[in-house]
Amino acid sequence: MVTGASSGIGRACALRFAEEEASVACLDINDTANEATAASCQAQGAEAMAITCNVAEKADVTAAVKQVMENWGRIDVLITAAGTTASTPLTEVKLSSWQQLLAVNLTGVFLCNQAVANIMMAQKSGSIINLSSMAGKTSWPATAEYSAAKSGVIGLTRSVAMELAPHGVTVNAVCPGHVLTPMLRQIAAEAGLREGITGEEWLAMRAQDCPQQRMAAPWEIAGVIAFLASKDARYITGQAIEADGGMVMS
Ligand SMILES: NC(=O)c1ccc[n+]([C@@H]2O[C@H](COP(=O)([O-])OP(=O)(O)OC[C@H]3O[C@@H](n4cnc5c(N)ncnc54)[C@H](O)[C@@H]3O)[C@@H](O)[C@H]2O)c1
Repeated sequence: MVTGASSGIGRACALRFAEEEASVACLDINDTANEATAASCQAQGAEAMAITCNVAEKADVTAAVKQVMENWGRIDVLITAAGTTASTPLTEVKLSSWQQLLAVNLTGVFLCNQAVANIMMAQKSGSIINLSSMAGKTSWPATAEYSAAKSGVIGLTRSVAMELAPHGVTVNAVCPGHVLTPMLRQIAAEAGLREGITGEEWLAMRAQDCPQQRMAAPWEIAGVIAFLASKDARYITGQAIEADGGMVMS
């Protein structure tokens, strides 16, 4: 089950898990693109379904989980990649924008984790991988609500990992650096405008900030997530793993 499956990292995860012969439930608010992701998974020979789901709405999440259980009877992996971003200086952040971003990026992750917990505990197996960010471990100007939400995801992940560990379920967060997706291009356009440069120039500068001097492709993050869902990662839980080309070293 992949949230945010219609774009970027979520889409790359859906395709990677289809390649691994998983049955993939694609959840997103963007119906057309989400159906395209599910169709691409099917074209690889996997079973896949597209489910319209706003992760910030408990009723949507509950209905999506019910649909998956009715069709496939189990949920082995949850990937919470649905998210939005913001790049507004602190003094200009509206309370409504703060609440909306937290609702999707933090409450949405909580609702999805909560919705699969009993199922995975009853199965005595399962992997949850929550998308945090390097912004969950460090911060930049004009990222107050995003950074707060992503730090929150790391704390949430640790607590859920503690509760589910005795039941054979692993729960980890992945903290990507700059990944070339529509979200990053939106940030680049907004930040570039503030700094008087183009989005492409802003992206080139950010690539130079990275020890590897490049950005990631979405499939590289999907690869880390596939590892965390694999048997090889059974003894890893409660971690927030950076996949950022060395941007944050701890
Ligand atoms: N791209 C990066 O550089 C980067 C870096 C670190 C972390 N991340 C995180 O990775 C995750 C995926 O980001 P991405 O870059 O692929 O972004 P993206 O914008 O390409 O994709 C995000 C997806 O989430 C969906 N979505 C948004 N709100 C939703 C909601 N309420 N309910 C359901 N779906 C919703 C969108 O429709 C979209 O398909 C996000 O949590 C993001 O914060 C991204």
